[in-house]
Amino acid sequence: MSDIHSNGDALDAVAREIERQRADRVVHLGDLVGYNADPEKCVRWAREHAAAGVVGNHDAVVSGRASGEFFHAPALHAALWSAEHLSPDSMEYLAALPETLRLPEGILLVHGAPSDPDRYLFLLEDAEEEIEPLAGVSSPGVVFFGHTHVPAAFVRRKDGSTVSAPLAELRVGEDETAMLNPGSVGQPRDRNPFSSFLMFDTHTGSASWIRVPYDVGSCQRKVLAAGLPGFFATRLADGT
Ligand SMILES: [Fe+2]
Repeated sequence: MSDIHSNGDALDAVAREIERQRADRVVHLGDLVGYNADPEKCVRWAREHAAAGVVGNHDAVVSGRASGEFFHAPALHAALWSAEHLSPDSMEYLAALPETLRLPEGILLVHGAPSDPDRYLFLLEDAEEEIEPLAGVSSPGVVFFGHTHVPAAFVRRKDGSTVSAPLAELRVGEDETAMLNPGSVGQPRDRNPFSSFLMFDTHTGSASWIRVPYDVGSCQRKVLAAGLPGFFATRLADGT
């Protein structure tokens, strides 16, 4: 899962669904905090339930690893607010998250892209640049990435071509390399307001994207009550 962004209501719904799906392991791709009003709850959940995770650009600013000079003012405001609402243990957790991580199965975790945690991979040609150097490096050749808040799958086929694959019923073959984006738990931006994450079977290579409705109104009320920028609340209803 990725980009929970302090949305405790979305996380509640996703956590229930993960339990229902009987996942063996949860990994996160960063941006636990930022934008919304439940930073401590989300970081504590990750500390207790995630087997592994990487740092997101918002986590880096909140924990003082990055200055936030490229953030727009409302995002920086939310980051500074988050820093004031985190326990020392949670700040320490964010400060210690690695930029990239390889799981025992060879799967690579990154926030934005393997070459740069801040790179947005929306386009096939950008994904192609990232996927090419990875081809054949590890098996299974799978990278999980987030940052765009848009579910996606880029697959380099056996014949060397890279495609943007449909998100239903995806199975990564042995001679393929795939970059998979689970979408965002706490601030989806693909015009579907439901929380998004993906389940991956390390034995079969199959991936499925799951969407979960949650109490958007509850999250919105917390954002407004905290005095955070109002458009962080309104965009949740539109999935933008
Ligand atoms: Fe994010």
